Amino acid sequence: MPIFLIGFMGVGKTTVGKEIGLLKGLPVIDMDHFIEEKEGRAIKDIFREDGEGFFRTIETQVLMELKKKEAVITTGGGIIERKENRDILSESGEVFHLYCSFEELWERLEGDSERPLVQKNSSDQLRNLYNRRLPLYRNASNSEIDTTGKSIEETLNELMRLIES
Ligand code: S3P
Repeated sequence: MPIFLIGFMGVGKTTVGKEIGLLKGLPVIDMDHFIEEKEGRAIKDIFREDGEGFFRTIETQVLMELKKKEAVITTGGGIIERKENRDILSESGEVFHLYCSFEELWERLEGDSERPLVQKNSSDQLRNLYNRRLPLYRNASNSEIDTTGKSIEETLNELMRLIES
């Protein structure tokens, strides 16, 4: 069963996931990257050409495909949008929520040109999205790490402790 990392955009799921894979000797699958390979185009192009709904459908298909893998799976920030996905997460493996304050995330996200939802939304709209999603991440996960003000290394150590416990 996989180890899933979930959390809002910019929290460091992909970066931390790679390190966890190395430490645990497990393959790492980044869902956004997997989707880009499958579709042969970037996430922002999928959103632009076919819309968010289309992206969400592929995201669910990919989650179904990967849910039994022995791997670290880093998810896109919107994985908890669909109930179907939340159910798969709660039934399949360990789910860790990487939390960070919105202020710190916004500093990292502002000006991002690869993430369609950052392009499309004002900081207030993103804050609303963040607030709406927070309980969904919390419900879908078994444990949470507060990464606010922490280095990647500190987050990694904390996460490894949780995984090993
Ligand atoms: C999204 C997050 C992105 C990517 C897509 C949608 C979201 O992943 O899946 O742009 O809805 O929060 P990251 O969390 O890796 O940025």
